[in-house]
Amino acid sequence: MHAYLCFLTCDHVIVLKILTLYYLLQVILLMATALNIQISKPASENVVDMFSTDLRLRQQSIAEITEMIHVASLLHDDVLDDADTRRGIGSLNFVMGNKLAVLAGDFLLSRACITLASLKNTEVVSLIATAVEHLVTGETMQMSTSAEQRSSMDYYLQKTYYKTASLISNSCKSIALLTGQTAEVSMLAYEYGKNLGLAFQLIDDVLDFTGTSSSLGKGALSDIRHGIVTAPILYAMEEFPELRSVVDQGLDDPANVDLALEYLGKSHGIQRTRELAAKHASLASAAIDSLPENDDEDVQRSRRALVELTHRVINRTK
Ligand code: FPP
Ligand code: MG
Repeated sequence: MHAYLCFLTCDHVIVLKILTLYYLLQVILLMATALNIQISKPASENVVDMFSTDLRLRQQSIAEITEMIHVASLLHDDVLDDADTRRGIGSLNFVMGNKLAVLAGDFLLSRACITLASLKNTEVVSLIATAVEHLVTGETMQMSTSAEQRSSMDYYLQKTYYKTASLISNSCKSIALLTGQTAEVSMLAYEYGKNLGLAFQLIDDVLDFTGTSSSLGKGALSDIRHGIVTAPILYAMEEFPELRSVVDQGLDDPANVDLALEYLGKSHGIQRTRELAAKHASLASAAIDSLPENDDEDVQRSRRALVELTHRVINRTK
């Protein structure tokens, strides 16, 4: 996990460490323990010990790979968005320039590929590679939308799955596959990740309107000012169809941004987005509750923590 940090000088090690203070690592490791169900009868105690140590290392590798891909995507994203800050401090592109930030992202991505190859599991390689493809697709969908697509909730949710939920859902599924779980349990792990990811992003989109720059550690109202239409505005548009022409006229005009915010304030857009996030959080929680029963204390504690995370995601303020 530390190898990639050496790529950067001391000052920037801290940048990456702060970037990784995130939900992903926790979710993947908790999912690993939550699914550590005895699959077959142990031949002997020693074999079980060796098997579980090796399995845990392989599961930890998935967590590391996921986190490296995630950080790589944020480094590239900050270049694309020309962001000055990330989690309250100067973003790498701001501090070191775009070229180094892009290379740092590429470096992390290549380290993730090397670790992934070492797992020698083609199904897992395929899931993680798909998630990387989805990250790029989601980002491309966001930056090249037609007027029709910009006002479509289906398009927004598909893009949100690609950008935010695919990596976590495919990583959770990978954990299940590495653990030797059935297709049914792997699907539940996938559903947990997908719904938690969607709930997380929906709340992120709310906070972009309701948070302050200092609470968010990045610019507030950044989506709408970049012309990105998210769920709160899409719901407001359902209530006030005339908002659609304001959006179509272009959000590069600050007067249109102000007008859109006025409509949003009069609408139930924020509330409905929170309700949709809560619905996905409860679907994530239901996936955990549907896992095969297990009396092991660690398994139960991890499952409770995964459920608790669904509450935290929708109640977070930053
Ligand atoms: C955050 O977006 C960005 C992402 C979730 C993914 C970005 C993906 C890429 C740039 C494609 C390249 C991918 C790899 C793996 C190198 P945001 O701007 O909506 O969120 P923010 O407010 O956190 O910046
Ligand atoms: Mg961004």
